[in-house]
Amino acid sequence: MASQYGDIYSNWQKNPEEFWHEAAQNVHWFKPYDKVFDADQGVYGRWFTGGETNTCYNAIDRHVEQGRGNQTAIIYDSPVTNQKRKITYAQLLEEVEALAAVMQDHGVVKGDRVLIYMPMIPEAAVSMMACARIGAIHSVVFGGFAAHELATRIDDAAPKMIIAASCGVEPGRVVAYQDMLDKAIEMSRHKVQHCIVLQRPEKAHIPVEGRDIDYKQAVDAARGRHVPCVPVLATDGLYILYTSGTTGEPKGVVRDHGGHMVALTWSVGAVYSIKPGDVFWVASDVGWVVGHSYIIYAPLFIGATTVIYEGKPVGTPDAGAFWRVISEYNVRIMFTAPTALRAIKKEDPEGLLVKKYDLSKLECMFLAGERADPDTVKWAENILNVPVIDHWWQTETGWAIAANPLGLGKMPTKYGSPTVGMPGYDIRVVDDGGHEVKRGELGNVLIKLPLPPGCLVTLWNAEERFRKSYLDEFEGYYKTSDAGYMDEDNYVYIMSRTDDIINVAGHRLSTGAMEEIISGHPDVAECAVVGIADTLKGQVPCGFLVLKANVDRPESVIEAECIERVRSEIGPVASFRLALVIKRLPKTRSGKILRSTIQKIADGEPWRMPGTIDDPAILDEITDALRDRKIGNACQAA
Ligand code: COA
Ligand code: AMP
Repeated sequence: MASQYGDIYSNWQKNPEEFWHEAAQNVHWFKPYDKVFDADQGVYGRWFTGGETNTCYNAIDRHVEQGRGNQTAIIYDSPVTNQKRKITYAQLLEEVEALAAVMQDHGVVKGDRVLIYMPMIPEAAVSMMACARIGAIHSVVFGGFAAHELATRIDDAAPKMIIAASCGVEPGRVVAYQDMLDKAIEMSRHKVQHCIVLQRPEKAHIPVEGRDIDYKQAVDAARGRHVPCVPVLATDGLYILYTSGTTGEPKGVVRDHGGHMVALTWSVGAVYSIKPGDVFWVASDVGWVVGHSYIIYAPLFIGATTVIYEGKPVGTPDAGAFWRVISEYNVRIMFTAPTALRAIKKEDPEGLLVKKYDLSKLECMFLAGERADPDTVKWAENILNVPVIDHWWQTETGWAIAANPLGLGKMPTKYGSPTVGMPGYDIRVVDDGGHEVKRGELGNVLIKLPLPPGCLVTLWNAEERFRKSYLDEFEGYYKTSDAGYMDEDNYVYIMSRTDDIINVAGHRLSTGAMEEIISGHPDVAECAVVGIADTLKGQVPCGFLVLKANVDRPESVIEAECIERVRSEIGPVASFRLALVIKRLPKTRSGKILRSTIQKIADGEPWRMPGTIDDPAILDEITDALRDRKIGNACQAA
């Protein structure tokens, strides 16, 4: 079908409020909103003010009331624990009500924060929904983060309760959550009253007297209790999701109920073409925004079936794992990160494992989380014989800024581009002075305010930081901190970040946070962490360490200690495995570390000697050090 995108985007442009009002008709409201958009509320205005609703009611109850009770809501497939389970909407409702009852019994009320630290298991979805049901604000922390990161989030969100599992299961390794949880609770200033812990057979949790509640026992005892959905304002907070900023302090992105529901209900159909009853599989993690939006919320809002997959693209057991899941559950649309495809391609370059499975139900694959390199996209299209669509978004926006909207009729693909701006997003590319650049020229990518429904409304406890990070630099615009360009057909191209954030295997990480941790090493005088190119993960961090004078311990020992520090403080997900001691860091005369020059040298890219450099000889030293250690592509470029 010819794409309706152009007409729909211009309908939105002509009358944004009418557009979102129409989209909001697919959401159930206990009380209609007074205004679609109120420019006088919030930092840049608020959507659906005065409306009352409940996210859990929209995701579960109304489907049961409308006769979908026996339809599968969640398929759980866990190759790492050898389990498979299907949960219907009616069963999900019963489980959510029971957990909500336990939470209420322990004093959790509307507005309280609840931190969720769980792997990819259905109980993570149940916990999120139980919070939404009673108006509590959840904050899910990714399982690959360690105690220090967890403690930072506990102190910022000040949760009344934590819901956790006893462990996560990574291939070949059980991740003991208790160690992290206990350490984090001990480290944090804020004291959590209760933890509900799901015991998993792979690792027992030893309950802390007076603090811990056994998930299964408590939920089983509460089964059958009815907990009504608490009406909340459309503008009340649904969740806080922490994401990397440029410092060690993560940013708590706050999302509200009303706008979130409207945006996700609209986008799951328009972007992904998902209809009620479809099987939608998003192979990400509940700890990331992709997991929040499209593993949990959007498929349930629309009455579809979602797959919760606790496994990897490779090694669980092989590079055919994704194709097995698609065929076993008749997945219609799948979504993953380019890095997962690169991992599969490395092990099965010819795509031979695809042939073992019936993928006839698969219609399209979506990619996001990092730039999708054209080679990987073409490789996937070739072996799968379906369109592979790159789309671009951020934790902050919660849904696609630019996409090829399958549900509106696919537009022609331009490899390397996540296609065009979605309704709600007026994308501009400007130079550092805020002037729009010519088509094809690289610049800062901005979104004209107001942001559409579903985007962040503020940062938790940090409205000033919200303004400073995103709104102050270019007045009237939201700064994405991505650099890119737009072509004559309005296709956008997102090339890199403009800040110190790097993207490692689709995970967003702060080099600043790693630098803070390494600087805490007693022998390190100063350091710089840069993201260098990696064929599998896109980028990996590499630390350059300058030691204090008179340190006489072996450099290799200090390097290993720094690697261990980052792993134990941020977590294994940082993939911090490269550290090298150098004599000095290259700086400008004003003292700014020349990180991007180091990165270009490491990647073997052409670079120019910065005019302001303090001491040019340092760059040769770095090139030699990288070459000697065979790090990055510095040797190829030489
Ligand atoms: N809990 C605990 N540890 C975790 C974890 C979790 N949820 N997720 C990852 N880790 C650990 C891994 O076990 C690994 O530990 P190790 O250093 O002991 O080996 C480390 O963190 C790095 O993980 P990762 O970067 O994922 O690398 P990997 O080599 O284990 O796997 C891929 C590589 C490509 C298979 C994997 O990164 C992947 O599937 N990526 C897809 C990413 C994605 O879905 N992103 C979401 C955005 S859409
Ligand atoms: P996160 O908040 O973890 O989703 O990371 C968001 C960042 O990932 C964006 O600001 C981009 O830098 C990058 N990103 C996500 N999707 C894409 C994409 N399709 N193309 C290019 N970069 C992307």
